Amino acid sequence: MTSSNRRAVGFGWLVGLVALGVVASAQAEDTSPMKDWMKKEVVAAKTAGDNAKLEALMLKLAKTVPDEKDFPKWAEYSKKSAASAKGGNKDEINAACKICHDDYRKIFKEKYRSTPPPK
Ligand code: HEC
Repeated sequence: MTSSNRRAVGFGWLVGLVALGVVASAQAEDTSPMKDWMKKEVVAAKTAGDNAKLEALMLKLAKTVPDEKDFPKWAEYSKKSAASAKGGNKDEINAACKICHDDYRKIFKEKYRSTPPPK
């Protein structure tokens, strides 16, 4: 290996390490009160198969619309999710969660991350 090659390899490592650091800190900051609530409350109830709890959480979520204009179907999606939790069909529950995530997660993350979660 020539010395300039070795330098190039060394530089590549450095760039890689810096990139890793950037990714790690971005992930550490990628959080919000709503995301914490989703993970701690919603996922916990869902994983435990506690459908009554999940239904109650989704009904609470229906009352926590971040913004009526940007999220016109938030309450509807949440209620649908509550109904599917009551029904207890896992596929339906997952589909109901996904509709809201597909529709609203992006804009929520862009503009509404400080929204407090349901109480
Ligand atoms: C009415 C909308 C809505 C419904 C219904 C909904 N969510 Fe969410 N969920 C969100 C939003 C908005 C975020 C993004 C929060 C953030 O990242 O700041 C989110 C984020 C999450 C996350 C974090 C994912 C990540 O980015 O790592 C999990 C896990 C999650 N939801 C689980 C669920 C489950 C399970 C259900 C169904 C039982 C559900 N959610 C139903 C709106 C919803």
